[in-house]
Amino acid sequence: MEDAQLDLAPQEAAVLDIIKANPFAGQQEIATQLGLARSTVAAHIVQLMQKGHILGRGYVMPSETRAVVIGGAVLDRKYKARQKVVLETSNPVESSRSMGGVARNVAENLALLGTPTTFVSIVGDDEGGRSLLRYMRERGIDVSQVAVSDERPTAEYAAILDPEGELVIGIADMGIFDLFAAHHIERIWPHLASASVVFADCNLPAETLSALIAKRRDGRFRLAIDAVSTPKAVRLPEDLTGIDLIFMNLDEANAVLRREGPDLIMDAGEAALALQAAGVREAVVTIGARGIAVAGLAGLKHFPAVKASPVDMTGAGDAMIAGTLHRLIAGDDLYRAARTGALLGTLTTESSASVHHELSARFLEANMHRLGSDPALSIA
Ligand SMILES: Nc1ncnc2c1ncn2[C@@H]1O[C@H](COP(=O)(O)OP(=O)(O)OP(=O)(O)O)[C@@H](O)[C@H]1O
Ligand SMILES: [Mg+2]
Repeated sequence: MEDAQLDLAPQEAAVLDIIKANPFAGQQEIATQLGLARSTVAAHIVQLMQKGHILGRGYVMPSETRAVVIGGAVLDRKYKARQKVVLETSNPVESSRSMGGVARNVAENLALLGTPTTFVSIVGDDEGGRSLLRYMRERGIDVSQVAVSDERPTAEYAAILDPEGELVIGIADMGIFDLFAAHHIERIWPHLASASVVFADCNLPAETLSALIAKRRDGRFRLAIDAVSTPKAVRLPEDLTGIDLIFMNLDEANAVLRREGPDLIMDAGEAALALQAAGVREAVVTIGARGIAVAGLAGLKHFPAVKASPVDMTGAGDAMIAGTLHRLIAGDDLYRAARTGALLGTLTTESSASVHHELSARFLEANMHRLGSDPALSIA
């Protein structure tokens, strides 16, 4: 491989490396990255074609059903103390690592279900960021639009647990997401314009979320958003017009709507209707084991949760979103899609991993019977 590049000048080799990593890269994008003029890059590309390193420029047609998922990618670390935690001294722990971030989890679930997926986020120029991208790429996810920052490290969440597994303290370094400014929405526009669904999480700064909601008018995609947490949910604009579908648990919905209510499924329904009144086209409000409320175009429906033997709740909400989007893209209406999504959420509670290890379209299909006897719900 190296020998084949001996005929290349250093700048030509650098241009070729960028094109290899991202065949979608535009001339201006390459020029900016290398600090060259666009015309210089154009000349190098001509040379690369003459030397046989590039066969030609194609038009890459978007797949009919691509999902673009924008938001958090996080390195999760768990430290479980061997004995009761003692402050202000060193405590022996057992540690484990995994990957999280709502958008990252949604993207992984979608890809495992077979939906072509582009993941957009920002990672640090560090080993954690590189291994995160490698992991996603190995699952067939397009990570060509992930930004790499040399200012901040890859986002990290660390949980210190007592010997029983209860959280003693959690620490989160999510500062890198502040760097995902609104201009990134412009940068990735061709990918958004060709998507059938764009999903974003509220790890994005408020300005970036607003820019995305505003741009949605120029695209043909449907825009879905998840709140992530109560402090992050309030980054959404007060007027939710332009959002096609919103996912929130009841606490997050209450924070956004500045309302209170009993922790009951009927109240989740009220909250879902209030989100519609605030401007979203459709809303799914979840309330864990108590079920989901779906405010769709044909009105409000409540669905009970499937009975589970939960071992770890991490990632359940994210799996629910991915399952719903996967079925929406396949053509189901929201009620049907959200019930299947909720089933995937439940299945994920029964796995210790945040994304179910066995997940595939076939695995989901094999579990559809757990939704009960509603014949309209079996996947054809
Ligand atoms: N104990 C449970 N039994 C059955 N299903 C569950 C249970 N907990 C969660 N689920 C499933 O996962 C979905 C999402 O869970 P939940 O309402 O807790 O979301 P969340 O608070 O956003 O969670 P997350 O912290 O994962 O984002 C539920 O709608 C349900 O389908
Ligand atoms: Mg959630």
